[in-house]
Amino acid sequence: MKIQTEPPLGKQQQRRRAPKIGSIIIVLALFCTLIPIYYPTFLYSTRKLSQTIYSSNHVIIEDGSIKPTSDLEEDDPIKPTSSLEEPLSQENEGSLNKPSKQNNHDSILWLDDPRLQDDVAATKKPRRGKGKKRGGRKTPRQSNNNPQKSAISNGGLDILASHVSDVNENSCDIFSGEWVPDPDGPYYTNMTCKNIQEHQNCMKFGRPDKDYLKWKWKPDGCELPLFDPHQFFELVRGKALAFVGDSVARNHMQSLVCLLSRVTYPIDISEEVSGQNTRWIYPDYDFNISMFWSPYLVRTEKTDPNDVTKPFNLFLDEFDDYWRTRIESYDYVIISAGHWFFRPTMFYLNKILIGCLYCQNSDVKHLNTYFSYRRAFRTALNAINSLDNFKGVTFLRTFAPSHFEGGPWDKGGDCRRTRPYKRSETELTGYNLEMYKIQLDELRIAQRNGRRKGVKFKLFDGTRTMLLRPDGHPSKYGHSPNQTVALAKDCVHWCLPGPLDTWNDFLQELIVREIEQSSSSFV
Ligand SMILES: *[C@@H]1O[C@H](CO)[C@@H](O)[C@H](O)[C@H]1NC(C)=O
Ligand SMILES: *[C@@H]1O[C@H](CO)[C@@H](O)[C@H](O)[C@H]1NC(C)=O
Ligand SMILES: *[C@@H]1O[C@H](CO)[C@@H](O)[C@H](O)[C@H]1NC(C)=O
Repeated sequence: MKIQTEPPLGKQQQRRRAPKIGSIIIVLALFCTLIPIYYPTFLYSTRKLSQTIYSSNHVIIEDGSIKPTSDLEEDDPIKPTSSLEEPLSQENEGSLNKPSKQNNHDSILWLDDPRLQDDVAATKKPRRGKGKKRGGRKTPRQSNNNPQKSAISNGGLDILASHVSDVNENSCDIFSGEWVPDPDGPYYTNMTCKNIQEHQNCMKFGRPDKDYLKWKWKPDGCELPLFDPHQFFELVRGKALAFVGDSVARNHMQSLVCLLSRVTYPIDISEEVSGQNTRWIYPDYDFNISMFWSPYLVRTEKTDPNDVTKPFNLFLDEFDDYWRTRIESYDYVIISAGHWFFRPTMFYLNKILIGCLYCQNSDVKHLNTYFSYRRAFRTALNAINSLDNFKGVTFLRTFAPSHFEGGPWDKGGDCRRTRPYKRSETELTGYNLEMYKIQLDELRIAQRNGRRKGVKFKLFDGTRTMLLRPDGHPSKYGHSPNQTVALAKDCVHWCLPGPLDTWNDFLQELIVREIEQSSSSFV
């Protein structure tokens, strides 16, 4: 097991040579000019960082249960329930199918945090009474003002986003847009695609409304071509694509396989039958798709091998060698992670227990989701940068918001909307915003490190699209009504067919751009 030595948070690689006196003076002069301008931000982020990492009084422990302290501050860690997402693996189904009372989540729930109401607080009241048909017009004019408005309101997020995306005069930002009606959708059904995970097979489980299937994404500055399986196979002929992540990554992969099923089905050559790591090949096109199950992206151990509801040990500075050693020959890697970081976890650095999330051990420092999320992405992207022979492109697919309303996932929260939000109806806030920003930050660091070695990291923004799709989740149509599952109302995953299919419109466009870029750089 390789231990990775990475710089502490916030510190960049050490300088190789001592800078000359002249440059020291220039730097000092710049520093003195900039500090007054950036001082408030600087102060804020320093305070935030130290609170995030070092303060241990976020929680108190009473009678074995953890509760928020009364003096919680605005930027304290999020306190969701123990898990927004349940791992839907074969391995886990036994325990998940038990009624949730039987697992130990209940002892560690955060019941009364308003932010648990998820998107309710973050969502402006949608205007009612507007017919669905009206959505058919072109992108509303007002949306043109949005980027600027949000640049002010979201602490420079758009500036950060513009640093990590390589949008230029010749290409538009495909991730900034609105959902518009698409009367032709969907492009497959539960009958034509046999690769839909049970839990996302909303048609099978009788979801009555169909309007959620009839939208497509319209970027502000251009058209996003719909996924064309024939074209896609030509683009990826002789190539291999890997998904690294959790069940939302698998959800995405299954959407791709379903869209491709209009042309042909893959052959499953997975090493483990019914395992989490799957391999599919399309021999006619010499195209391979693999799924590497790694919900935390770093080396992870169960504290109890027979109970996935018990905390996991995360070795935040150690690579997950299962996927790292296997992706080297891949051309495209889509890496993502998210909802698992809200579960009870023990954090290790340098093999030493340095903190935990929702643990009941008062000797251990209580650290938050943002801490582990940032470290995990830092390590995972370093894992890719550390490969000697990796020549592929890595897409960081950003956090896909869930949409529980009316309560947390295990206390009556549900997602029953039947149409998308317009951009003006909701905002990226709270932990969705924080997770997204961490990903953009870490992407930027990886891009910088990768540039030296010629390793490419690209933004695959799944956040802004999916924030607007409260109507796209299975809710109670992810299982049959007489089946008891822990995640009874699933507002985390996405129905297939459904809005996630748009991620493959993105994928196609990203690959097209990638091929154009690399061919033009050889001219
Ligand atoms: C597909 O969905 C329909 C309802 O739309 C259902 O009757 C049928 O059993 C489902 N078939 C499969 C294979 O999931
Ligand atoms: C796809 O997988 C097969 C079987 O392992 C392998 O022979 C082939 O080289 C792979 N193709 C690509 C493009 O990676
Ligand atoms: C549950 O319902 C399904 C159909 O929705 C049926 O096939 C199955 O037998 C039922 N199972 C039980 C245990 O009632």
